[in-house]
Amino acid sequence: ATHKLWGGRFAGGPSPLLDAINRSIGTDFRLWPHDIRLSRAWALALAKAGVFTMDEADALRSGLDRVAARIADGAQPIATDEDIHTMIDRLLHEEAGTVASKLHTGRSRNDQVATASRLWTMDACRKLDVAIRELQQALLTQAEQIADAILPAYTHLQRAQPVSGAHWLLAHFWPLERDRARLANALRGTSTLPLGSGAIAGSAFPVPRDVLRDELDFLAISPNSIDATGDRDFVAETMFVCTMVAVHCSRIAEDMIIYGSSEFGFIKFGDGFSTGSSMMPQKRNPDVFELARGGGARVLGDLVSLLGTIKGLPSGYSKDLQDDKRAMFNAVDLLHLVLPSMAGAIGELRFNRERMRGAVSSAMMATDLADYLVKKGATFREAHGAVGSLVRQAEEAGIEMTELPAAAFSTAHALFGDDARDALGAEASLAARNIAGGTGPEAVRVQIAQAHAALAAH
Ligand code: ARG
Repeated sequence: ATHKLWGGRFAGGPSPLLDAINRSIGTDFRLWPHDIRLSRAWALALAKAGVFTMDEADALRSGLDRVAARIADGAQPIATDEDIHTMIDRLLHEEAGTVASKLHTGRSRNDQVATASRLWTMDACRKLDVAIRELQQALLTQAEQIADAILPAYTHLQRAQPVSGAHWLLAHFWPLERDRARLANALRGTSTLPLGSGAIAGSAFPVPRDVLRDELDFLAISPNSIDATGDRDFVAETMFVCTMVAVHCSRIAEDMIIYGSSEFGFIKFGDGFSTGSSMMPQKRNPDVFELARGGGARVLGDLVSLLGTIKGLPSGYSKDLQDDKRAMFNAVDLLHLVLPSMAGAIGELRFNRERMRGAVSSAMMATDLADYLVKKGATFREAHGAVGSLVRQAEEAGIEMTELPAAAFSTAHALFGDDARDALGAEASLAARNIAGGTGPEAVRVQIAQAHAALAAH
């Protein structure tokens, strides 16, 4: 038999097309543990409000527990279950009998779905934090492995200056740390309780909302029932954080893909996260990183779709909001594939220190050579010009700057001494940069400790 939460005012039945376009259980089924939880709290609150007895509340609560057990055991929706709230209501009638018909007193699916979605999102934020942290841990572990390796850092993807291997990898750690702070903020913003708002004007029964808040572990109670039922800022904020995480994963992936090419040869992908080719027997492809990069576009699309949904809505609930869950679940699900596989692929990377070091050419220490002149009293502009001429001479001769004759140095600038070439060493270049946040060995040691502290903090 059809179990419907509405329909009394209609003479005719719904079109099958209405059922098809309206039905959301394929998406919102996963809200069930949260819907059960908020319904248990609602039963208690209604009893406290004097709507029914504590015995009835107990019957409803144990009925809801049996419904939860049935769903956990694999109970499936039937064709007429419009959404998860309808399905749970149907099963509750089977489990608890007519008292089930009292549960929906003073509430609407509008405050119900807003509450269930917030509970789901709070849970999702906590789980995402764990997944992000695991990726950070993978980066940190590898960073420690290659703390003393030296490779070029690139601007415009042109060789710029030498940096330590740890400094490069940790450049990807801190964006994720900021994402975790954003996530904590999104979680806080989500922790406002809509339940008690009814359909839009607030429940007419004296339900103790503070009891609901405490039962459901919310931090605050919504101050406006119109806002509370139509507000999906928490979805937008969470999805923005998901997008930032995906963007950061994409940038990590991009570095790995480039550095893993034969032309760079800085890293080798492990067997667990490499794919082969159906045609070319020699291939070892970094598909995980490519899929992470591609996935970033999908998450961004989900965010844009959600913002587009919210943008044109009048105040209060409109059915467009049913689509919020599809967008958010897609984004979160994707991150739960991308984050652990990135962590796994990074954990398996092998680094080729010789290739890294070999890519550091003496011209990359041109800045250090200019700094040398500054320390001898030249202005930086003047030093820049003198070193630039040496760069050009080496380039034209097809040699390293260290191979230029001593005369070339003294001609370029009178302040160059015998020790000028020492300024062209990569190790010296790093050693000069122990400024906080720099790539010097001491500074990187401090940075690694900061990264450990960040992971231990929460
Ligand atoms: N499935 C709906 C959603 O996800 C539940 C709320 C329906 N409310 C309503 N008044 N029809 O948004």
